[in-house]
Amino acid sequence: METFRLLVDKDGDNEQIYSQAVDLLENGEVVAFPTETVYGLGAVATDDRAVKKIFEAKGRPSDNPLIVHIGSIEEVSNFIEEIPQKARKLMEIFWPGALTLIMKVKPGVFAPSVTAGLSTVGLRMPDHEVALKLLRKLKKPIAAPSANRSGKPSPTKAIHVEEDLRGKIPLILDGGTTGIGLESTVLDITVNPPVILRPGGITKEMLEEVIGEVILPNKEQQQLESTPKAPGMKYTHYAPEAPVYLIESDQQKVEKAIAQLKNDGYKVALLAPSNYHAIGADYFFTFGIEGDQERMGAKLYDDLRACDKTEANIILVTTTSTEGVGAAIMNRLEKASGGKWYTV
Ligand code: TXA
Ligand code: MG
Repeated sequence: METFRLLVDKDGDNEQIYSQAVDLLENGEVVAFPTETVYGLGAVATDDRAVKKIFEAKGRPSDNPLIVHIGSIEEVSNFIEEIPQKARKLMEIFWPGALTLIMKVKPGVFAPSVTAGLSTVGLRMPDHEVALKLLRKLKKPIAAPSANRSGKPSPTKAIHVEEDLRGKIPLILDGGTTGIGLESTVLDITVNPPVILRPGGITKEMLEEVIGEVILPNKEQQQLESTPKAPGMKYTHYAPEAPVYLIESDQQKVEKAIAQLKNDGYKVALLAPSNYHAIGADYFFTFGIEGDQERMGAKLYDDLRACDKTEANIILVTTTSTEGVGAAIMNRLEKASGGKWYTV
């Protein structure tokens, strides 16, 4: 299959391109599109055969349910039996936006592969012009996970989607680089207090300001649960080819680590703030100024992918605090590294 990547620039009306995307979706095909978090690979959420193509193209395990994207808050009542009061408040404040709400789904409204046999579904209204325009023209909900091959870092550029899925999908809507760069916060609102299943751009602090107490399980608590609540969180994720090691953000320690590794014959890629540029790594990718977590989140996946294009056989990444969006960054870094730390 030939894969087309078509630019949907902000100023043009791009009517033809949207029509093409809608036609493909209506006809049971998958289409990749940008959101404010990462690119998604979408299919009509009521079409089981189409949804199965998402799993196939991604190589995604079928026990991992998909997020359903909608174009308006009004639609929620079509799919959800009883909308919790707290959910209503959160939608009002954070939608459109990077918040996925897990609620009890009406039986039979979505294709079985979307929910993977669960009685709940994750809904979100994305805050991106292209995604919203597509949803409104299609007038149907779109099931969409991130548009990467399973296990790879999520795509924050259309070219990342192309690298992973070329030949496997017919169309990528290219809307440029996504803003947030990390997947949405997934909040289970079927329990009280609600539980964050995946930290993201909408932080625990932001949620608590609107609905009071919210639980963000720490690493140990997540491991205590025999079956992780968000099935996707149990797989190795967000990982480039070379092994990733986390290291404390301390220039002397990082410098020493690099010297040791090079001495042992490694080619080292370093992902770190800009002030680490001259400490001897073979390849250097920067998140920008130390402490700028928004930028670190936005660039992280692009940088991890860039490492794959180098000859590096080890990747060191300096860590950040778990305050605010740092919780999401550290969550993804723990996954990318498999929890490995480099100590000197
Ligand atoms: O930002 C995002 O959320 C992106 C963009 C494309 O919207 N989508 C995304 O989807 O990251 P995906 O499928 O890669 O991640 C969805 C996560 C997985 O960890 C999945 O296990 C969890 O949400 N999830 C989905 N439905 C669930 C449910 N009913 N109960 C618990 N977890 C669920
Ligand atoms: Mg994903």
